[in-house]
Amino acid sequence: MSKDTISMDEQARAILRGNDRGGYTVPTAGLYPYQWNWDSAFAAWGFAQFDLERAWDELTTLFDGQWPSGMVPHIQFHQPDPGYFPGADVWGAETKGPVPSSGVSQPPVAATFALAVYRKNPDQGQAALKALFPKMVKWHRWFMDWRNDNGAIFITHPWEAGRDNAPDWDEAMAAIDPVGVGEYTRRDTSHVDPAMRPTKADYDRYIWLVQRGSRLDWDEAAMAQDMPFKVADPTMTFILLRANRDLATIADALGEDRTEIDGWTKVLEAGTARLRNPETGSYNAVNLITGNHTGNVSNASFLCWYAGIESADMMRELHEAFETCSYPVASHKPGDETFDAKRYWRGPTWAIVNALIGYGLAGMGHHAEAQKLRALTAGLIAKYGFAEYFDPTSGDPAGGGTFTWTAAVWLAWASPNVEGA
Ligand code: DGY
Repeated sequence: MSKDTISMDEQARAILRGNDRGGYTVPTAGLYPYQWNWDSAFAAWGFAQFDLERAWDELTTLFDGQWPSGMVPHIQFHQPDPGYFPGADVWGAETKGPVPSSGVSQPPVAATFALAVYRKNPDQGQAALKALFPKMVKWHRWFMDWRNDNGAIFITHPWEAGRDNAPDWDEAMAAIDPVGVGEYTRRDTSHVDPAMRPTKADYDRYIWLVQRGSRLDWDEAAMAQDMPFKVADPTMTFILLRANRDLATIADALGEDRTEIDGWTKVLEAGTARLRNPETGSYNAVNLITGNHTGNVSNASFLCWYAGIESADMMRELHEAFETCSYPVASHKPGDETFDAKRYWRGPTWAIVNALIGYGLAGMGHHAEAQKLRALTAGLIAKYGFAEYFDPTSGDPAGGGTFTWTAAVWLAWASPNVEGA
């Protein structure tokens, strides 16, 4: 074990401790001052490498914010912070759940990481997992009730996929006329170079969709009428499928009934086929309003193995990514006309998505590719730091710094000190 390796692990632990606000972890101070849903689940995975109790606290706090409908919001506004926009007042969902929150959800990685945390010490984790289980079931049921189009899981707002400005949404976003959105002041661009963030045209539509949800009191049945944005998403579909398989394993461990969960798994397995582009064989987002496959290969397209789905076409794409990109996997295919190396989800490489891809590859027996991706990601973080995301061509760090989920995937997956990753 080299001195540098030890210090990287220490730095990562210090980032998690530094972003800990007591029971929940912020993604990074300033830019994201609240609890984000999938960030928090990644934080639990990171904490589990050195403080299991803290890992369980993170997941417990996340589900303490669950709405009565089962939805677990993508942001929980635990305390006011003028440095972020749009805050709880803009969402207009202050009283929909136990904590003021946003009105949309985020990719459900929680069950997968709850299982990973549990496996660290089943005796210690038994009680926490038992308390979380019905809440996770309720959340998955919410997805199946409200975000399910014959097994393809769709998003109703780009923030729901977590991949805010991916080209996957361009066609659907262009169809929205953000009339009446009014004046507002963005805060993100005061923390980070605007060239690394979504454009004003994107933000107008993000806020317009939030205003619509608020006007309809976040009533899913009302919002499902004439949905202005409805895109079937590989992130959501593959992640829910994987999480569902892990939830069934959790049910077994707890002696709970898994019949309903297994039923969802079958529906989702069938749904993944709908994301497969018949012309290219790759997995794309599908605009459910027009029926169009976007044609985009994003980093989410490579989550098929994570969901337990084999794909020779995606393996070919992965080998191409290894050959053509210095720091794969780019969030949008380099060379495509909408590729933008620094702009958030339009090109940059995200260590968290690499970790999920690598986890999936290893689980399906593709050990050479899993190790290659892990080594490349470790090298990227070791050289350029715990950034939010990275330029896939130069490795330059981008977005926020001292980032919780990058530190977490270092500790749980990328670090040379992780055994059996
Ligand atoms: C942001 O504020 O950029 C977030 O991604 C929204 O969830």
